[in-house]
Amino acid sequence: MEHVKDRSSGDSPPRGEERENLAVQADRPGRPRRRRYVFLGIVAFCILVSLSITWSRWGQFDPNLGSQARERANIELSPEEHPLYYWMLLSHIAGASIALVAGVLQVWRGLRTRHPRVHRTVGRVYVFAGVVPATVLALLVTAFYPFSVATAFSQVALSLLWLGVTLFGLALRRQGRIAEHRRWMFRSYALTCSVLVVIAIDPFVQLLVSTQYHSRLNGNLDIYLQVKESNVNWLGLLISILIVEGYLEYERMRRPKRLIEPPAASGEQLPPAAQAAAPEPHESQAEREVEKTVSTP
Ligand code: HEM
Repeated sequence: MEHVKDRSSGDSPPRGEERENLAVQADRPGRPRRRRYVFLGIVAFCILVSLSITWSRWGQFDPNLGSQARERANIELSPEEHPLYYWMLLSHIAGASIALVAGVLQVWRGLRTRHPRVHRTVGRVYVFAGVVPATVLALLVTAFYPFSVATAFSQVALSLLWLGVTLFGLALRRQGRIAEHRRWMFRSYALTCSVLVVIAIDPFVQLLVSTQYHSRLNGNLDIYLQVKESNVNWLGLLISILIVEGYLEYERMRRPKRLIEPPAASGEQLPPAAQAAAPEPHESQAEREVEKTVSTP
């Protein structure tokens, strides 16, 4: 907490990322770091593998390529008739890949706290070169070249949610609500990573849906793919939300009790000096704790 003391000795209040750093320190004193780095390492490894596989195909820049699901269902779009389809899909994949890689750097706390400028720059790349183009292009592909109504629902829902959560997280940062910004950006990145969950659960969903292939699905490959793709998308979204909400809840539970029940909440009157220094209503408890720590000599 050397850093905190330096600040309190005088000059300027802590800036965004520094406050976030302090917020997290206040939230989770003495938390073992290794587990977090192991988890981040596993996520980074999965991203590396999935992007290597994806780009070994799309990196050929072959306009005859299209979605594998469409190829399996024999719904191929000829590049002569639909020249934009390939470029939209390729740009979506490029944006999504940027978001996946930039996001790992953003959730890595060491980088966030030690190099706030890098965090800011990579954050802009994540939002404006990653999530925004990836979601807008996913929406355009779905609108102009719909695979099916069944899959379009999940793709539109996921795109809008992904874009909305990310822009909300960015707006919170611009308002200086750092702890909330961090939580919403975690949510945004969970949606980015939902593609990894989709890849992981795909074989199981395929297995389950294929049990009815010759009965309820009448041996129709197109219907089978629509059912499988839409289910796998919804399940991927649901699992990703559950994981990130579970993590955020776990973090909240680990917070020291004094942070959850501040004296003011139990009806105790704050001294006048403390009332004067009371934070803006939008500040979260963690941020308030930072302010308190920083102003303590
Ligand atoms: C999470 C929000 C996402 C949404 C809503 C979304 C939506 C879409 C849509 C609509 C398509 C076109 C499917 C078709 O033409 O049949 C597509 C294809 C694709 N997307 Fe995404 N996507 C998302 C995230 C990602 C991410 C993070 C990546 C990682 C690189 C990614 C990689 C791909 C690839 C490789 C394809 C081509 C799939 C194939 O060959 O069948 N997407 N996506």
